[in-house]
Amino acid sequence: MENEMIIVLDFGGQYNQLIARRVRECNVYCEVHPYTLPLEEIKAKNPKGIILTGGPNSVYAEDSPKCNPEMFELGIPILGLCYGAQIFAYQLGGKVETAPVSEYGRTEVEISTKSVLFKDCVGESVTSADSGSLGAATCALAAGAACGTGASVLADGNVKSVFWMSHTDYISEVPEGFVITGFTPVCPVAAMENAEKKFYACQFHPEVVHSKEGMKVLSAFVKDVCGCKGSWKMDSFVESQIEAIREKVGSGKVLCALSGGVDSSVAAVLLSKAVGKQLTCVFVDHGLLRKDEGDEVEAVFGPEGPYDLNFIRVNAQQRFYDKLAGVEEPEQKRKIIGEEFIRVFEEEAKKIGSVDFLVQGTIYPDVIESGLGTSAVIKSHHNVGGLPDHVDFKEIIEPLRMLFKDEVRKAGLELGIPEYLVFRQPFPGPGLGIRIIGAVTPEKVKIVQEADAIYREEVKNFGLDREINQYFAALSNMRSVGVMGDFRTYDYAVVLRAVLTSDFMTADVAHLPWELLDKVTTRIVNEVKGVSRVLYDCTQKPPATVEME
Ligand code: XMP
Repeated sequence: MENEMIIVLDFGGQYNQLIARRVRECNVYCEVHPYTLPLEEIKAKNPKGIILTGGPNSVYAEDSPKCNPEMFELGIPILGLCYGAQIFAYQLGGKVETAPVSEYGRTEVEISTKSVLFKDCVGESVTSADSGSLGAATCALAAGAACGTGASVLADGNVKSVFWMSHTDYISEVPEGFVITGFTPVCPVAAMENAEKKFYACQFHPEVVHSKEGMKVLSAFVKDVCGCKGSWKMDSFVESQIEAIREKVGSGKVLCALSGGVDSSVAAVLLSKAVGKQLTCVFVDHGLLRKDEGDEVEAVFGPEGPYDLNFIRVNAQQRFYDKLAGVEEPEQKRKIIGEEFIRVFEEEAKKIGSVDFLVQGTIYPDVIESGLGTSAVIKSHHNVGGLPDHVDFKEIIEPLRMLFKDEVRKAGLELGIPEYLVFRQPFPGPGLGIRIIGAVTPEKVKIVQEADAIYREEVKNFGLDREINQYFAALSNMRSVGVMGDFRTYDYAVVLRAVLTSDFMTADVAHLPWELLDKVTTRIVNEVKGVSRVLYDCTQKPPATVEME
């Protein structure tokens, strides 16, 4: 299954996961590693190709991250994107400088379809006369730079296509052996290549959705340059995981941390198919679940449900509330909830006796967002970054560790899990603990549960529940003056959030119909005690995150 592998070397760019997802969309297995991955490990993985990501640094700055130069001698095809492109230029003898004009956002790039990378791009055709003048303008702008060095510009069969740019540095001189295959009026080297060595570089980001023909570019690299066939499929993943789990677990006992969310549900069913009754699923009701969720999870995975699992529900609400009392800082809340989770599991494991393995539904974005050591830690997901040091199990099994959310859903369907569970909207492990700004109290939990239930009910009534990727109510820590009847109130503001996203790495705000917002607002202030205002979060990600913590 993993014979065909592309390695993404991460230089700290925010789009590193997207690159990996896009490669997997070509049915080629792909892993993200820090750029410091030792050469020996790269060789051992035998990748068909390597992609260098973008990053926040300037290649010419002292201490900026660089590739091991020996990597360029391995004969493996390499694609550099943004900072990764500049690394090529800099480390192979070209020049990178601060651009006179930065480019950010959707940008029309003139690319040569003579390049294997752009051969499938259609864009908007450019007449040869236009192309010549654009080329000339580029040379004039880059006087003394790329064109001045005699580097050739592939200009035949040029098309203009829209790609996402985000750079303040640019390549002003290409290394020996490279030709320019793309440019804009202010960026003389938007793409370059040394086809003989299979080195390709794009200043733009083909991986983001705004790059209209970006998938064609990545697919051309993966399939045509690297020669991947694209045989990585979900059924082979499921089968090989079941086999691998059986081999690893032997006759050992396994404990699964089940939250009822998509990830842990898929992990649980995968494990139950692999080791049957050797598995016990423990569902911790930490008192931070959505309204009635504990009972819903029990109905599906408990003795009355369709699965043949050992199921234990632990009602630990008070224990979590006690630990969280007075804690306001979101990262601290995450750590506390994560640690308490593990303690509860350890206790249950002791009761069951000689448990060898703990299963968690960690997925790839959790792993990457918790920090590969190259990019900033945005937040630590409770099941990775927050893991306590002393865990009382032989080993942790994370069968979905290398999968993205949409791939987890595919695996779920492959395992026969009902669609209504597979397509459940995501709910964070730390639950309402991170949807309540400031200190968590049982009263605040009740408020946000009730408000959220109303919101979800009305979104469904409006027929929008499958259209919006994630929507929920959060509780701001803001209290403000209101008036109800003849009385002054001083109550909380509930915040409604609804986002459209395919990968949860970036998200647009859903433009909910006013009638829906109006109805939800009226119902919440009328029906939920302690709320006097309802606000709608209009912020996209970035700069915000999906959760409001
Ligand atoms: P953010 O807030 O990081 O959320 O933009 C992106 C997606 O991740 C979910 N999320 C979590 N899921 N454990 C999880 O299993 C967590 O700790 C966690 N924090 C955020 C969030 O709901 C959204 O879908």
